[in-house]
Amino acid sequence: MYSEKVMDHFQNPRNVGEIDGASGVGTVGNAKCGDIMRIYLDIDENQVIRDVKFKTFGCGAAVATSSMATEMVKGKSVNEALSVTNKAVMEALDGLPPVKVHCSLLAEEAIHAALWDYAEKNQLKIEGLAKPKSDISESEEEEDY
Ligand code: FES
Repeated sequence: MYSEKVMDHFQNPRNVGEIDGASGVGTVGNAKCGDIMRIYLDIDENQVIRDVKFKTFGCGAAVATSSMATEMVKGKSVNEALSVTNKAVMEALDGLPPVKVHCSLLAEEAIHAALWDYAEKNQLKIEGLAKPKSDISESEEEEDY
């Protein structure tokens, strides 16, 4: 049911943990399944993501997508990080079963929430970044990603 890459990232998740004094922290939840994801970003003075950690209280697909998403944003500028969508993360993982697609949204939302937190703390405007939602509604899950 899961690709080898999903299993690998689920069993050996990268970048698990916290960052003390993070530049931005984002926490999002999925109201339907109750799973929660938190992302910590350490961003340098050139707006490059120096380090990233995550904590997930969620299912295996949420762990695997967070792990892959953190690998994909590390070393990127904040603008480049915005292009790490749930679609891009799923592709990098060789896909997810349709019922698990909503899990991959948590990672994208959490990264965006952490970037929003960073932007607010530094009074910056990040082009293309929308204010994060605190949870993911059912109507969005029904959309075709
Ligand atoms: Fe909730 Fe996967 S079932 S994030």
